[in-house]
This record gives sequence, C-alpha cells and structure tokens, in this order.
Amino acid sequence: SIPVWLDCDPGHDDAMAIILAAYHPTIQLLGISTTHGNQTLDKTTLNCARVVKAAGIKTKIIPGQALPLVKPSMVAPEIHGVSGLDGTDLLPEPDEDCIVKNEKAVLHMAQVLRDHPSKVTIVAVGPYTNVALLLTLFPELKSKIEKISLMGGGIYSGNRTPVAEFNVLVDPEACHIIFESGLPVYMVPLDVTHKAAVTDKVLEAIEKRCMPDSKFAKLIVDLLLFFKHTYERVFHLYNGPPLHDPCAVAILVAPEIFTIRHLRVDVVTDHGLALGQTICDVYQKSILPANVHMAVDIDPTAFFEIMLDAWVAADQH
Ligand code: BDR
Ligand code: CA
Repeated sequence: SIPVWLDCDPGHDDAMAIILAAYHPTIQLLGISTTHGNQTLDKTTLNCARVVKAAGIKTKIIPGQALPLVKPSMVAPEIHGVSGLDGTDLLPEPDEDCIVKNEKAVLHMAQVLRDHPSKVTIVAVGPYTNVALLLTLFPELKSKIEKISLMGGGIYSGNRTPVAEFNVLVDPEACHIIFESGLPVYMVPLDVTHKAAVTDKVLEAIEKRCMPDSKFAKLIVDLLLFFKHTYERVFHLYNGPPLHDPCAVAILVAPEIFTIRHLRVDVVTDHGLALGQTICDVYQKSILPANVHMAVDIDPTAFFEIMLDAWVAADQH
C-alpha cells in the first residue's frame, strides 16, 4: 500500500479527496493536515473534522498554517460558502479529540516522515504553505518523501484570474519552493480536473449504489449539488462541477487513467497580471530541466468508478 499524508482546505472537493484517500484499498492514510485556503484555518479544520466523522474515518487532523508564506491571505466564500463547506445540514459535530491542538502541523509531518519505515507520498490539495515550510525547515527529510502530488495550476487558463488557479495564486512562493525541490512532483491542473465533472449520471449512481435512504449518500449529494450551483453561477459551466482535489489522489493509485507529461513548469511570483500563473513548457522551449509530471488528460469514467467505490465504502463504514 501507498503511505500518504494529505494536506487540504475543505472545501467541497477536498472532502471527496479525504474520502478517497481514506477508503481506497491501496492507500494507507497516515494523517491529515489543514491549511488556510477555501476558508480560514479554523473553518477548514472544523470542516475536515466533520467530514472525517461523517465518513467514519479514524485519523488525526493537525491544523497547519493560517497564512501564506509572503502574501496576505485570500479565501473563497463565493465558491465554498461562508462555512467553507456550505449546502447541507447533515454534517455532524466532530469528535473533539480528533483535532491535535498545540502542535504545529509542519513539525508533526516531519516526525511522521522520520518515523515511517518507508518513503511517504504527500498530497496537497489546498494552498501549498504547509508543504513548502516542511521542505524549507527539514531539507534532510526530502529523502523520506516518495513524491508530492498537487491539485493546482493550469496549462492554458486559471480560475481565480484569467491565468492563475486558486491554490497556486493564494501562495505562489510556496508553489515555487515545491517546483524547485528536486522531488518528483505530480500535478493535476484545471485543464484536467474540469474533465472530471460530476454529471447528473454520477449523482444518480451515488444514490443507486449507496444503501437505501443512506444519510451519507444524501450528504454527499447535497455537497455536490451546492458545488454544481456554484459552478453554474460563477463559471457558467453547466455540465457538472469539476471534482478537482480527488484527482491528485487518483493519480497515485491509477496513473494509467491519466496522460502524464514530464515538463518544465515555473510559477509567476511577481505582482502583476500574471501573478500565480503556472507557465507550462508544452513545446519544450525552456532551457531549464523538466520538473513536474503534469497530468494533461484523464479518463473521467474510470475516475468516477474509483470515486464511487470510495463513496460506497464510506457509506458502509
Ligand atoms: C482548487 O481551489 C479550491 O477551491 C478547490 O478546493 C481546489 O483545491 C481548485 O482551483
Ligand atoms: Ca482544495
């Protein structure tokens, strides 16, 4: 199995990434850290704890950084609501003791890397502040990291500005640190996650395959419908909301359902129109070496089969 540390900012699609990481049979979920991003750190941490409780996941949650490395923070209530996970009244109150207090996530992650007998894969699906700090503070622990899998960036467009994707834009310096780390970096950009759209067929399949009158299935559908309406309202996309974050988990367990290219990618950290853009060297014009394994395509049907298995497994917990 693949030992995974998950860093996230739940978030509707983050919630599904948590469920996939916890219930995919070939992943061993070592723990979850939270970050500022879709909402403030307090809110993303609470959301994470609620999702974990709803899905019956036994794991520790360690709150991470509340602010980006350099830039002021930026949240996304227009996408995920005031709570960061709006759209349902079925989320339970969390177990108090699942959130580790008085410990920095980055220090905890470092200890997990030291203690684990083999290399660990890090998945980051919110702004990359925690992971960048980990690499900066403990460069000697790079030898304990198998790879870093990110959801973020775009090859041909952004979603927060015309050229910048949210996770990258919120903390571009953190993204730069990861790109320069020398570690194997996998990245699933918007161009690909937009193909993983939750169609009405997917929503029907959730209700059909989960237990009859399942409260958990209702919760998942509530969250996905909220996300669907967000994408209709904000982006005028009507074929279903993109399930961005679980793609960065799926690429670990089913790389064959993606097309992946090893490319040079640089991130714009200068203030200006292009701040947060991921410049992808599609035609190999850069003199710099390739540094990112970039997903450029996905088989959405195969992806949703994997996701459905995880939802069904969580429903049966
Ligand atoms: C990313 O930004 C957030 O809104 C989502 O959770 C995802 O991680 C997509 O740009
Ligand atoms: Ca996210």
